[in-house]
Amino acid sequence: MKSVEVVIIGAGASGLFCAAQAGYRGRNVLVLDHANKPGKKILMSGGGRCNFTNLDAAPKHYLSANPHFCISALKRYTPQDFLDLVDRHGLQYTEKTPGQFFCQESAKDLLEILLTECEWAGVELHLNTSVTKVTKTETGFVLATSQGDIHCQSLVVATGGLSIPTMGASGFGYDLAQQFGLKLLPRRAGLVPITIQPGMKEKLSTLSGVSVDIAATANGQTFRGPMLFTHRGISGPAILQISNFWQPGEPLQLNLLPEVAGETYFRELRQQKPKRTLEAELNSLFPKRFTEVVAQDFPWLNKPLAELANDQLDALVTYLTHFNVAPNGTEGYRTAEVTLGGIDTNEVSSKTFECKDVAGLYFIGEVLDVTGFLGGYNFQWAWASGFAAGQFV
Ligand code: FDA
Repeated sequence: MKSVEVVIIGAGASGLFCAAQAGYRGRNVLVLDHANKPGKKILMSGGGRCNFTNLDAAPKHYLSANPHFCISALKRYTPQDFLDLVDRHGLQYTEKTPGQFFCQESAKDLLEILLTECEWAGVELHLNTSVTKVTKTETGFVLATSQGDIHCQSLVVATGGLSIPTMGASGFGYDLAQQFGLKLLPRRAGLVPITIQPGMKEKLSTLSGVSVDIAATANGQTFRGPMLFTHRGISGPAILQISNFWQPGEPLQLNLLPEVAGETYFRELRQQKPKRTLEAELNSLFPKRFTEVVAQDFPWLNKPLAELANDQLDALVTYLTHFNVAPNGTEGYRTAEVTLGGIDTNEVSSKTFECKDVAGLYFIGEVLDVTGFLGGYNFQWAWASGFAAGQFV
């Protein structure tokens, strides 16, 4: 039987990063993945340019039932540490919004860095390998795999979440946690587009591809940013962010006038520019196609403001500040960027990532109940948790 010191299941962001750290410590590391290529989610992330970190990766940008869990690992491996690493490899990158870093050319360049680190650290990588059974022994674990049995002292589970099953996502990590009696918290798709009711979809169908700036509010959280109308519903940064906080059946407020001061905006405009039409005003604030949809509900948009009554103007303000798209769900794991929930972090040491009750078994990355906001926070969690475990496996 093949025997190594450390097996890591999952050649994604956290698994590859952890492997290199452990390898540099002189550990004999084997990474297994059932996919035919490593790091598939890295390659598809950030529109193919991977938003690989965010300088503002503080615990407040992560969701978890145990919000303190992530603090230690995030402190021990910071976004600056990761930037220093990619600088040493000469990666060209750009800062989009302040602190949010993307590869300048392609996410391939970042994956190449991780694979180079693994190579330098002497890590062995086996792709197209599935693990069918894991057994705990006196000296570690025996894994039954499609390439034969493997013994290891430390087993790291870095199999990620459930989003994008076509990219290799599986529930393996959760099943293994259950096998060892660890508590699982409910999981659902996060950073995901929101779908809308059929009638509304039809009404808004001409808007597919149109983007407007909004403030989205649900469950006491507000996000500013673009909202994109799609042929299925709504997406774009503000919607992906709020999807982590909104659940079907709950209120979702979409304010399409986030920059415009309050309810009296159109009344004040009427005073200043009585001959102007709301149609012209809306065309200055939104794409023309959007104004056309508004005109279906407000046929008087083309009249001069002077001819409009207060309640007409107020009704339009309410319509735009509480824009109702009739949301009815999300696109689910098929298009979600992340999985909310997962393995209860109370089961795992925040210092080593080893299970408190199963010596030698480690969980890192997205499989744990730690989910970042949109903006590079999820990769920073993969690096930080992989780094932390890499010092102990
Ligand atoms: P990851 O998913 O990276 O790796 C898991 C690995 O385990 C995969 O290689 C998989 O094949 C393997 N695996 C699964 N089951 C297995 C099994 N049974 N046997 C063997 N191997 C198995 N984040 C961010 O910070 N910035 C961004 O720009 C983006 N963009 C983005 C876009 C899209 C479309 C998605 C889907 C996701 C993002 N993310 C992101 C999120 C980010 O990709 C994600 O949080 C990390 O990849 C998680 O890293 P992990 O190592 O935990 O899992």
